[in-house]
Parts: sequence; structure tokens; C-alpha cells
Amino acid sequence: MGDESKICKSLVLVASPFQGHMTPMLQLGNLLHSKGFSITIAHTKLNSPDPSNHPEFEFLPLYDNFSAIDPSNYFKNFLVKLNDNCKMQLQDHLAKKIKEEKNQMITVIHDNAMYFADEVASNLKLPSIVFRSCSASYMPAYLALPILHAEGKLPIQDSMLQKLVPELHPLRYKDLPFNNTPTELLKQMFALSERIRTPSAIIWNTVDFLEHSMLTKLRQHYQIPIFDIGPLNEMTKCPSTSFLKEDINCISWLDKQAPRSVIYVSLGSLATMDETELAETAWGLANSKQPFLWVVRPGSVNGSEWIEFLPEGFMEEIRGRGHVLKWAPQKKVLAHFAVGGFWSHCGWNSTLESISEGVPMICRPVYGDQCVNSRNLSYTWRVGLELEYLERNLIVDAIRRLLVDDEGKEMRKRAFFMKEKAKNALYKGGSSFKALKDLVQFIQADIDIHSN
Ligand code: UDX
Repeated sequence: MGDESKICKSLVLVASPFQGHMTPMLQLGNLLHSKGFSITIAHTKLNSPDPSNHPEFEFLPLYDNFSAIDPSNYFKNFLVKLNDNCKMQLQDHLAKKIKEEKNQMITVIHDNAMYFADEVASNLKLPSIVFRSCSASYMPAYLALPILHAEGKLPIQDSMLQKLVPELHPLRYKDLPFNNTPTELLKQMFALSERIRTPSAIIWNTVDFLEHSMLTKLRQHYQIPIFDIGPLNEMTKCPSTSFLKEDINCISWLDKQAPRSVIYVSLGSLATMDETELAETAWGLANSKQPFLWVVRPGSVNGSEWIEFLPEGFMEEIRGRGHVLKWAPQKKVLAHFAVGGFWSHCGWNSTLESISEGVPMICRPVYGDQCVNSRNLSYTWRVGLELEYLERNLIVDAIRRLLVDDEGKEMRKRAFFMKEKAKNALYKGGSSFKALKDLVQFIQADIDIHSN
């Protein structure tokens, strides 16, 4: 054992500049702070969190040299450069911190996209843990990609899309992440994965009852501790983590709607659509005759600033029944009595937030783990409807099935049951409660080993 009286338990959390990663990372920081750790959030200048919302944390900005997330040549031009640009800054800062504060034992917890932090920790002989903000079910599907690529099966042929993938039940080929990604981009993605070493442990924002068999598979695959601590959005009360300003006026609009009558529509922080998809979505919502709250993120429609491409006559048609906004206080929206369904791209945070509030979903995934999450929501957990094509009549049908028909009522019952199960995981005897306790002990044990 080291001399514990001399040890200050300090965690450096290295966050990535994506909203869907930053939010759960800040929630994790909050949770670990409540367990007595001091928290530093190392973050890129791009998409910085607002320090005034988190006075209990120290913030370390890293100069990344990007002014926006660069989707062109994402892996090579953006992610690799981002990691290269931040590495020495973190290393210098931590080396200084170690020198100045001799009684400080530091553990690095880093977002999986910020793999440079693992190299830095290794160089400085600090323990490091990776944090994953995607679903656990995504990983076996992701790990299968290089094999499918070597077998010449990627991109997936149209004739295969509806078929089940052997060994990955219940996923069909169409549910595989990146199933239509161009070969060159896939190769870059695989090359990047090669650079990422196996960490000493993984913290996963998930709940055992949701993904038990996948977590078992992953524990066998990685052979390291995996702490399934989630849903983080429920485990701690965290102030706003949004990069964009939340439009809170939508809450007073929701107050005026009938219970469980509103469909809330949002595709998260990154997904985009073209003008045709926008028009189909708009007329689908309008023709459903149900009230709706629709987040159209600025820039999310290709080539537009905001809603200038909305079809003519749409705003008049939906007056009083529909509300279009730039960014919503999503967790408050999902908790509102008027919301009866969530049309989502099935990002993992949105999925967990919807489950936490017992809101059934319309699933329209775009890429990555969203496709796997969509399959689980609609097929495994049966709390979501899959919207296969973005076509106005199919949209009307899906909204009415979810909000009006008995099918939707059954889904809501199941969603409510899942909400209760997710809550139970957080309290004494629950899986996430235990995983958090185990994680705290693991960090402490790591500190003891490194301080000897
Ligand atoms: C991405 C991936 O899609 C996701 O699957 C991955 O696991 C994490 O990164 P994103 O696409 O943005 O994230 O989706 P999601 O994971 O759902 O995160 C979006 C977050 O933004 C949620 O926490 C949601 O509450 C928030 N949000 C979204 C708002 O607060 N307001 C909005 O109007 C829209």
C-alpha cells in the first residue's frame, strides 16, 4: 500500500469535441466528483464546454487547430490530426502537474476517440481508462467489419441487406455500422483502430439489463474490467452540457398540448439531411395531424443556414400544431407529459434518455451505432418502430401507429417497464450502482500500485 494520507485522488478526463461524447463525459465527471475525486476536464478548443456550468471542475483547453468538425476525410484529416495536435500539450501539462504536486496521484480517463491520451498516460507511467459513449451492442458489429471487408462483403450488396449476419443475431446486414462506407474510408478507420491500444479498463455508458449478453461478449473479447455505468443522464444531476443554446420556449408550447399527443423529432448533433428528405419529413409531420416539436439544427440541411428550404405552405399548414426550433432542452422535453413519442436517429444518448423517460420511439438511424441501436429498439426491446424509408405516407403511418393505435400503447407500456428497470439499476443492489462502486475501488487500487 502507498501512503494514502499523501495521495490526492485526481482524475483527468480527456473529452472529445462531439456533443454526444461530451455530454456523458461531463456527467461521468460529475458522478466521480461526488465520490471524492478532483476532476480536470481536458478538452479541445473546438466545442469547449462552458466552465461556468461546472465550477467544481478544473478545465484544461487543448489547442486543436480546427474551427469545425471536418466531415471530409473524417478519420485521416480530422481525427488523426486532432489527436496529433493535442498530444504534446496534454503531456506537458501532466508532466508539470506531476512535478509541482508530488502528492498528486493522477488517473487519466479518456474518450475512445482521444487515443493520444492513452499514449501520454503510458509515457508518464499513469494509469489510464477508456470511456465509451456508444452502445455495447455496437462493438461486436464494429469488430466484425474488418473480417467482412477481407471477405469482400463491404459495402453490402442490396440483395444482402435484409439477411441476418451470422454470429451477430439479431442484426441484419443493413444494421451493420458503416455498411455503405466507401472502401478507402473504411481502410482509414481500420488503420486508426490499429493505433488504439487495449486499455486497462473500460467505462461504458450502458445498463446491464439492456445489453447483458453483449457485455459478456466484450468482457471475453477484451479480457479487462468493463464498468457498465449508466444511464449516466440519470445517475447524476448535471447542468447543461449543450454547445448550442437550448430554446426553452418549447416547454411552454408543450404545456398547452394534450398528454402524450406530441411527437418530438430530433436527429442529434451531427446527422444531416438533403432537401428532399426535409420536404418528406415536413409533409409527413404535417399530414399526420398530430402536434409535433421538430429540431432542425442550423446547417443540418445540406447547403442551408436553417429552415429556408422548408416547402412552401408548410409553416401556414402547421400553425398552432407544430413547433420548429434550433436546439431543444431534450431531457426536459422527453420528461414532459405532452410528449408521446420520439422520432430519433437513435444516437446512444438519445436512446438512453428516451428509455429513462419511458418514451417509445420512431427509429430512423443514419450511421454508426445508431443502426444497431435502432434494431435493438425495434426488434429486441420492442419499444420502437423502424422507419425504413423517408417518405411522407410512411411517416404519417409510423406517427399514427405510435401515438394513436393500440400498437403504440403496447410499446409505451414496455417503455415504461424499461424506465423502471433502468431506475432500479441505479440504487443499492442495482447493476450500475455496483459497477460504480467497483470502478472507484479499481481506480483506488491502480493509484496504490502506481504510488509504490
Ligand atoms: C453521437 C452518436 O450518434 C451516438 O450514437 C454516439 O454513441 C455518441 O455520439 P449524436 O449523433 O449527437 O451523438 O446523438 P446522441 O448520442 O443522441 O447525442 C445527442 C445529445 O444531444 C443528446 O444528449 C441530446 O439530449 C442532445 N440534444 C439533441 C439536445 O440537448 N437538444 C437537441 O435539440 C438535440
